[in-house]
Amino acid sequence: MELRPPIVIASGTGGMGEYLKLIDPKHIGAYTLKTITFNPRRGNPPPRLIATQNYLINSIGLENVGVEKFIEELENRVYDELFKKVKVIFSFAGENFEEYLLVAQKMAPYQDRFVAFECNFSCPNVHFNPLSNVVELERMLSELRKRLNVFLIAKLGVEGAFIEEIAKIVEDCGWNGVTLINTIRALHVDGDRIIKGGISGPVLKPIALRAVYEVRKKTNLYIIASGGIMNEQDAEQFFKVGANAISVGTALYKDPKMIEKIAQKFS
Ligand SMILES: Cc1cc2nc3c(=O)[nH]c(=O)nc-3n(C[C@H](O)[C@H](O)[C@H](O)COP(=O)(O)O)c2cc1C
Repeated sequence: MELRPPIVIASGTGGMGEYLKLIDPKHIGAYTLKTITFNPRRGNPPPRLIATQNYLINSIGLENVGVEKFIEELENRVYDELFKKVKVIFSFAGENFEEYLLVAQKMAPYQDRFVAFECNFSCPNVHFNPLSNVVELERMLSELRKRLNVFLIAKLGVEGAFIEEIAKIVEDCGWNGVTLINTIRALHVDGDRIIKGGISGPVLKPIALRAVYEVRKKTNLYIIASGGIMNEQDAEQFFKVGANAISVGTALYKDPKMIEKIAQKFS
């Protein structure tokens, strides 16, 4: 996969293409859509976002319309403008292993429209953690590989087995890339309120850097780095430890134009 510039909009943070109103598409290498699951999901009750200087905690909970409605939208040409402007990555997940297969099966006829499929194995806001069962995960990776011909990316997190061990399995199953890392489970105390969610932003960067470094040592996978990339210097550090591309999420909320600044440095 050739991304020019090597900069990706992180899944979930740019919705279903809305940020193209704020960012010139020539600065975006690929736009990852919000994760789509087999069934529609209403997501978690509020509060869903806590923002501080060093981190954001979100508990959106994979709110999405579900794969059938998404396909209906695709067929009704809702995303035609988006496809014309940028390369698009389809992100998907399930609430159990079988649902990943079902989404892949439904989406297989449409795979040519996307530059890659990203399989989200690491959302901290749902009850299922595929990274905690390596045997089942391996079976799923092989099955998904058989059913899809597209460039396949596994989005991994650090909660489960060591990320480099999982990445090696991803590579051995014939997948093409990994996105490292997702948000991590965290908790924010605000007076009497306890807010649980996934943490992103600057505090994630050292953890994500280590993940990219370890996975680069162990595999030849295409690595999209994700976690706390807020400016050009952060991006540079990720390229230094082995990323092929970087993805930007939380920084979009501070300043969508940051993508353009990073892109100018790396295109
Ligand atoms: C509000 C919000 C929603 C997110 N939704 C998703 C999602 O649907 N699927 C996914 O794979 N990652 C999701 N993520 C994780 C991001 O794609 C990204 O991996 C993470 O935020 C770390 O990068 P950052 O520090 O640049 O934000 C979400 C993150 C945020 C902040």
